[in-house]
Amino acid sequence: MEFSRKEFLRFGLAAGAGLLLPGTLSACSSSGGGGANNTTESSAGTLLKSKTELPPRFTARLPVPPVLAPVRTDGSTDYYEITQKVGQVEILPGRKTEIWGYNGIFPGPTIESRTGRRTSVVHRNELGVPVTVHLHGGKVAPEHDGYPTDLIAPVSGGHAGHTSHTTTMAAGSKEYLYPMDQQAATLWYHDHRMDFTGPQVYKGLAGFHLIRDDVEERLGLPRGERDVPLMIADRAFNEDGSFSYPSVDPSLSGTPGVTGDFMSGVLGDCILVNGAPWPVLEVSNTKYRFRILNASNARRYRLELDKKPSGGPAFLQIGSDQGLLDTPAEHDELQISQAERFDVIIDFSKYSVGDEITMRNSWGEDSTADVMKFKVARQAADSGPIPSQLVPFTKLSKSEATVTRDIVFARGGAEAHGMSLWTVNGEAFDPNKIIANPRLGSVELWNIRAQNVEHPFHIHLAPFQVLSKDGNDPSEYDRGWKDTVSLENGGKAELLVKFEGFKGKYVLHCHNLEHEDMMMMANFEVV
Ligand code: C2O
Ligand code: CU
Repeated sequence: MEFSRKEFLRFGLAAGAGLLLPGTLSACSSSGGGGANNTTESSAGTLLKSKTELPPRFTARLPVPPVLAPVRTDGSTDYYEITQKVGQVEILPGRKTEIWGYNGIFPGPTIESRTGRRTSVVHRNELGVPVTVHLHGGKVAPEHDGYPTDLIAPVSGGHAGHTSHTTTMAAGSKEYLYPMDQQAATLWYHDHRMDFTGPQVYKGLAGFHLIRDDVEERLGLPRGERDVPLMIADRAFNEDGSFSYPSVDPSLSGTPGVTGDFMSGVLGDCILVNGAPWPVLEVSNTKYRFRILNASNARRYRLELDKKPSGGPAFLQIGSDQGLLDTPAEHDELQISQAERFDVIIDFSKYSVGDEITMRNSWGEDSTADVMKFKVARQAADSGPIPSQLVPFTKLSKSEATVTRDIVFARGGAEAHGMSLWTVNGEAFDPNKIIANPRLGSVELWNIRAQNVEHPFHIHLAPFQVLSKDGNDPSEYDRGWKDTVSLENGGKAELLVKFEGFKGKYVLHCHNLEHEDMMMMANFEVV
């Protein structure tokens, strides 16, 4: 496990390319492995078919991850503890699937923080490989950000105390401190181990972290059991019911990466919501708030309601990645790329008791075209109207930007054994190379371009506003403060990025996790 980045480039991808050889000729036509750039169902990647019968749709009940209780709390801080370990869960009826989970469950427990109160989470690693935990969307000091080589060794040992100039290893556990100096928002936490984020998230290392505040509370939004997080993720299964993922080395302790056919991304054929396949939620005929997160490695979704409510939009969006919007936005469909969050209201008072409403993915085919179902099961009193003004929003202007930078996400520029890598500005990820030095407190204009396939751009620490997309106004899905933005193949965006909170080294990367693991990541250092 101590191979360096160079060794990965030299041997790791050599092994990957070796596996590719037998299928190379056909790969170009159908699966698009090797040099081709393939897109399936509007998502970069290759469909991995389950080798066992898929479960029936719309029979499982929607699970809601438990809210984690603090182990203690004091005047300033709430303290939590999480153990990362193997769990056995029933996803396929009557069968067990092994997952890697926070507290052994998938999704992990939901952490709820309060703006202005510090959150401490001690993560203990009872898995067999190193991990690191990133709070996606959090304004966090660099040493608590889950940097890809800032690892927690397994408690079982083997790596304790090991450090090199690029890797640090905490022995068995590590405390992450989150100041929560940010507004109410739907964040999530997930694994971020260099070269292995894709498989480790796929095995189940992902959970919600919600921030609440007084401003949000005064808006009278649906709450309690009518405030529901929805984590959407696609998976495929092996004959024995285990998750199927095309790692070159399935132990995740040797050679990283996926076999060549899946270089563009791994797409599963089973859609899970909160870990259950195509589940059902019984609702009352009232408004509900859903915090929709796309936690898939490579799949994007276009969500629709069948049938859509009469005389209203399917979704009333109240929040984006970084928190509530200034005013709600109406959508009949939601395009959501990996790691994005849409905080939406669905108004079931527009339906009758007995109605069944299917949430579909109109970018999917067959099994991936269905997501979940709502059944209007009972009458209840509604929580009242959604305010037309939500939270104050200050629009950044181009004139505030002090520096302009160009970032290109593409395939190529770096290669290993004839296999071209996913790169940022033509270079593979190097933990020691800094590509930008923004000043603390500044706003910068970043011109982002995506090539070969579509890419979701994500930057740690620094929230941004989308100023333009493809030369036009931002899309209707780019409102508010964002931390992740979807770019089409050949697409571009101008982002106004605000660097605040902390100095130090952070990453930006593609949130297609196969692209990220195969080098589409870079460092910036706030100075
Ligand atoms: Cu959710 Cu660096 O990512
Ligand atoms: Cu990408």
